[in-house]
Amino acid sequence: MKRTLGVCYYPEHWPETQWAEDAARMAEAGLSWVRIGEFAWSRLEPTPGDLQFDWLDRAIDVLGAAGLKVILGTPTATPPRWMLAKHPDMLAVDEQGRPRGFGSRRHYCFSHEGFRAECRRIVTLLAERYGKNPHVQAWQTDNEYGCHDTVLSYSDSALAAFRNWLSQKYQSPDALNRAWGNVFWSMDYASFDEIGLPNLTVTEPNPSHVLAFRRFSSDMVVEFNRLQTEILRKHTDAPLIHNYMGRITEFDHYDVGADLDVASWDSYPIGFLSDRLEGTPEHKARFLRQGDPDMQAFHHDLYRSVGKGRWWIMEQQPGPVNWAPYNPAPLPGMMRLWAWEAFAHGAETVCYFRWRQAPFAQEQMHAGLLRPDSVPSPALGDAAQVAAEIEAMPEVGTAQAQVALLFDYTSAWAWDTQPQGADFDYFRLTFAFYRALRRAGLSVDILPPSARDFTGYKLVLAPGMMTVDPELLEALQAVDGAALIGPRSNTKTPELAIPVPLGPNLPGMDATIAFTESLPPTSAVALEGGGAFRHWFEQIEGAAEVLRRTEDGRPAVLKAGALRYLAGWPCDDTLFAMVIEACAEQGIQTVDLPDGLRLRDTATHRFYINYAPEALSHGGVTVPAAGVHWVALA
Ligand code: GAL
Repeated sequence: MKRTLGVCYYPEHWPETQWAEDAARMAEAGLSWVRIGEFAWSRLEPTPGDLQFDWLDRAIDVLGAAGLKVILGTPTATPPRWMLAKHPDMLAVDEQGRPRGFGSRRHYCFSHEGFRAECRRIVTLLAERYGKNPHVQAWQTDNEYGCHDTVLSYSDSALAAFRNWLSQKYQSPDALNRAWGNVFWSMDYASFDEIGLPNLTVTEPNPSHVLAFRRFSSDMVVEFNRLQTEILRKHTDAPLIHNYMGRITEFDHYDVGADLDVASWDSYPIGFLSDRLEGTPEHKARFLRQGDPDMQAFHHDLYRSVGKGRWWIMEQQPGPVNWAPYNPAPLPGMMRLWAWEAFAHGAETVCYFRWRQAPFAQEQMHAGLLRPDSVPSPALGDAAQVAAEIEAMPEVGTAQAQVALLFDYTSAWAWDTQPQGADFDYFRLTFAFYRALRRAGLSVDILPPSARDFTGYKLVLAPGMMTVDPELLEALQAVDGAALIGPRSNTKTPELAIPVPLGPNLPGMDATIAFTESLPPTSAVALEGGGAFRHWFEQIEGAAEVLRRTEDGRPAVLKAGALRYLAGWPCDDTLFAMVIEACAEQGIQTVDLPDGLRLRDTATHRFYINYAPEALSHGGVTVPAAGVHWVALA
């Protein structure tokens, strides 16, 4: 399949007389897709029932006539002001009990039935009108579920829906009391109607209550997305897509993805580095204008899995953004590098955000491919270069990696709920493993916790997975190589309680966690032969085979058949050394890449991607700063 490029465009922001020229310039730059419509509700329906779709008809015609394929967004992320008069209680409510006000976006509560009905109505109208339009070749549902902390809502409609959800899940208040351990602190409930949302309690609420609320909140996103896909499917065969985000774990993306055809995500590498990632000041300074060398790749691999193999970038950073604490400009060439990195990870399409920088409103300081005066920004040149390179590039199919990493949203909620140490974060833990694998030059597949078939993988990693269900355990035992699990894996029941027998409770491994310790950043548990655990350590008892010990002789890595259990959170260098050792044991070739250089193997090519601000070399290949290089695999 030929890879393609696109751009996000807001015809409603510009005079209609400008559309044709914009469309022609997009096509000229080699772009083939244009996403429109996702925030246009107030212009599609200025007052209730007054539908004004003519301008959208004309915009689609103009774009289509220029040869562009349209991705039409449903406008449900921005309900217009009049809707609040109709549904005053549709606003999401924050943890402090404050309604989230009108005047930006995503102010709705996923559970609100009245708002859902409005969404059904507008999506039906759009689907009926454009479902068979030849220019509309893909659909986007809503925009960035979870953006601006909008998954968890403590509204009255959420409360009603939560009680209903609980009654279906637990059937009786008694069963719920037992499952949550409500005998503790006299928290027993006599009826589902007595149960509140887990906010505004005097001290922490019951973690089982919180986890149930997290599961419920994720299910609300799934339901909300599904109400749109069910309508769209009746009217169109075009692929249905949602644009996910970086490091957002508040809903289960695999569950939402099950109702969609393609996963896409919005990649803002420089914004993420300053806003959304841990890292030393030196690391942040080194990658200031490029982004973290593993952050984008991690999400590419995650969303390839969420999309069941099909994924896009729906929004690619085009220059400085407006929303991070600091917003530097990308190094020349980065807008090309990011696109090629995505293609190397299997993206079908990369769309840049946005066509022209808006001189008004919230995002006026956010770059586009054009400046507000329509002069090209550096990103347009990068995009045009990528478009030309795609033409010259043979196919680059995705190959299965030798290494798989499991990513489980429920575990993210569990450890958010009960971190036990200030630094314990599931994404951070999993990302540390990913980084170690990538430093070793490996391509990685990220798999859901429902994965059962590990054929072809020599190494499977499952750090921090709160509950490893019996079928998954069996599959991990059967890995033809090694399955490295822990720390903190299989240490909780699905209700976030401590299981008896105690974790990790792995078949054939006589190992029991006697107690766990979380550690401040200034402390570490030294390992025999060098290296250390940080943040987290588990004191293990039992007669299991020990592969590695702490300096004072306690088990650090245990083994039974293919299973390995890691009793702590290794610091980065230790984790890297452990990955190298595990790979050597399984006959997987590794390297130690210079800081910023990454490799990615496809079915046909090896890509060298240099995030560093200076040229870097590996294996006889030198890649300039912010450069990408590819060689055909023999
Ligand atoms: C995304 C969003 C876009 C735009 C962009 C700015 O989160 O989907 O609408 O706000 O960020 O970087």
